[in-house]
Amino acid sequence: MLIKRASWAKLRGEDIPGSEITPESSYLSRRRFISSAVVLGTGSLLGTPVSAGLQPDDELTPESIVTGYNNFYEFGTGKTDPAENAHTLTTNPWSVKVSGEAKRTGEFAYEDLIKGITPEERVYRFRCVEAWSMVVPWQGLPLKAVLEQFEPTTKAKYVEFKTLVRPSEMPGQKGFFSAIDWPYVEGLRMDEAYHPLSIMVVGLYGKGLPNQNGAPWRLMSPWKYGFKAIKSIVSIRFTQRQPRNTWNILAPDEYGFYANVNPQVSHPRWSQATERRLPSSLFAPNRRPTLPFNGYADEVAQLYKGMDLAKYY
Ligand code: MTE
Repeated sequence: MLIKRASWAKLRGEDIPGSEITPESSYLSRRRFISSAVVLGTGSLLGTPVSAGLQPDDELTPESIVTGYNNFYEFGTGKTDPAENAHTLTTNPWSVKVSGEAKRTGEFAYEDLIKGITPEERVYRFRCVEAWSMVVPWQGLPLKAVLEQFEPTTKAKYVEFKTLVRPSEMPGQKGFFSAIDWPYVEGLRMDEAYHPLSIMVVGLYGKGLPNQNGAPWRLMSPWKYGFKAIKSIVSIRFTQRQPRNTWNILAPDEYGFYANVNPQVSHPRWSQATERRLPSSLFAPNRRPTLPFNGYADEVAQLYKGMDLAKYY
């Protein structure tokens, strides 16, 4: 894993001469840098040494794929629907309701919640439960720093997140045929949320987060399947009990609460042993083995010590 400081002004596109905006090509030329970081084998995260989660053959997924091949059912179920439809979403102003087991609750302006937290660049592997994967340079805020602002009490064992409901701007929420009972809901155990790898994403490829990727902020815990990475968050609730999450409600036999990437536990309809690293085609499938915890086992496996991961999938 790579960590570097990012800048709010850059993410907002403010006061930055065009020459300083990192073009995709220069990100891509950092491939060698990624490999050498892996060879060195260590990074430093909040003072804790961590091994690099990236493999020597991990290459950044082109920006056009990260922002053009999406899952965001609020804008349609097709992979290109979010990129085509999400421009209608207005994200300024944006407010977030905080409730439950915390001392500071209420309605907060997004700007006030991110103030004072420095975004960091995290290059993470990203594995969808549908068995495709990417490597994405995200910019994000340590989730722990975001959540601690609300002073969760000792009763807070889980944190639940909800996405915006606004059918006037989210065409996928209009249909009566939609199987999803909006809003999209996700959750984490508090120790998962406080894990240093968990971030609230606010940008990618050094730019502000595109709407189709979950503007203005979305979750990312890279050892979990992509459906945990809830987008366009407007509600944060601290709970004593495990929250229900959207895909678990829809198909409990297929999608659990934990959703830790696990090549040994098949989805009932397909194997999770391998993945297609995008870009992938019929002739060049770019298939590779899936790693336990998506390659982050050294960092996160201890969170699940003693748990039967086939039962808590
Ligand atoms: N969040 C909301 N609100 N709605 C969604 O449909 N899809 C999830 C997740 N977050 C989804 C969501 C799934 S299944 C995946 S794989 C990732 O977003 C996709 O993120 P990406 O489009 O940035 O690649």
